[in-house]
Amino acid sequence: MKNQDSILIFGASGQIGKSLIRKFTKNNYRVIAVTRSIHQKGYQIKTQSNYGYLDLEEIKIFNEEEISNLMKKSSICINLIGILFEKKKNEFDLIHSVLPSLLSKLALKNSLKQFIHLSALGLETATDSNYAKSKLSGEEKVRKNFPNSIILKPSIVYSVDDNFTTNFMNLFNVLPIMPLYYEGKTKFTPIHVSDIANIIFEIIQKKMTGETIECIGPEVLTFKEILLKILKSINKKRLLFSLPLPLAKFNAKLFQLMPKPLLTIDQLNLLKYDNIVSKKYKTNLDIKIEANKKFEDEINRYSFNWTSGGQFSKKRIDKLS
Ligand SMILES: NC(=O)c1ccc[n+]([C@@H]2O[C@H](COP(=O)([O-])OP(=O)(O)OC[C@H]3O[C@@H](n4cnc5c(N)ncnc54)[C@H](OP(=O)(O)O)[C@@H]3O)[C@@H](O)[C@H]2O)c1
Repeated sequence: MKNQDSILIFGASGQIGKSLIRKFTKNNYRVIAVTRSIHQKGYQIKTQSNYGYLDLEEIKIFNEEEISNLMKKSSICINLIGILFEKKKNEFDLIHSVLPSLLSKLALKNSLKQFIHLSALGLETATDSNYAKSKLSGEEKVRKNFPNSIILKPSIVYSVDDNFTTNFMNLFNVLPIMPLYYEGKTKFTPIHVSDIANIIFEIIQKKMTGETIECIGPEVLTFKEILLKILKSINKKRLLFSLPLPLAKFNAKLFQLMPKPLLTIDQLNLLKYDNIVSKKYKTNLDIKIEANKKFEDEINRYSFNWTSGGQFSKKRIDKLS
């Protein structure tokens, strides 16, 4: 039997969105997934759920009337729209601040029960990052427009569907060396995508409102430790070397010219700051929702795709037998 609550998800075609669709529809919720392009993203979204539990909607993301019409059919809204680099000027501000402001305003106007907004961990200290500033401004506007909203601040989220571990696995397959920025000492608390989906699911089950929560996995790992674990998992040895900051900046300036940049100056600035709990907010542990999946165990479940032999690799065959 379907749950009466219907969940409206903006940014549903991303890593977290797809995991959420699986989690909610499996638990009998009806999901309305919003994308900017059904032609490009529809096939990825549709395959995440059983027939009858998912509606797919294509809208122009700043169209108030289209957003309101979808909110009228929903009781809970989750905003997952986010970008990692700007393709045009002020895009961070538009996507991370102006859009959440509009969604939260319309969520209140349409009397939604819950509004859940995804921000990020480790923004408060990163005063020289435009990404961080725009995300913080979005948090402020969401809290002001929909005071009972839930704001989630995850550390780096990973899975076979991410742009993080899989990017490094791709790069390690072709590059003999890999630069470390800030000597690879920046700390992270990586969280698996299914743990984030579970946190959001539990927040809805418990009908929680009016909290800002930092979402963290079970381990604190430095950037270098993360890369070493990825290398071990794909069974490769590569030289990791510290790149002095002026060279790193030059490196980032070149990379950010690429259509999908490997690194931008803004990301380099952000990488300087630890991505760990601030102690300013509650964490998922404080609200009694654990996120137990360990980085090395989880990447081992999909890294065989990047080892020699790919899906036919000995590592995968051993695991299956
Ligand atoms: N992944 C992480 O490690 C991580 C860590 C901390 C915080 N977060 C936050 O969590 C949220 C979800 O993360 P995610 O990794 O699932 O996101 P994602 O895959 O990078 O993107 C989510 C969706 O946003 C939409 N989108 C992208 N650019 C857009 C644009 N310019 N205008 C309008 N829509 C756009 C896309 O949907 P369509 O193309 O279908 O429209 C995309 O599928 C984001 O706010 C992110 O900042 C993520």
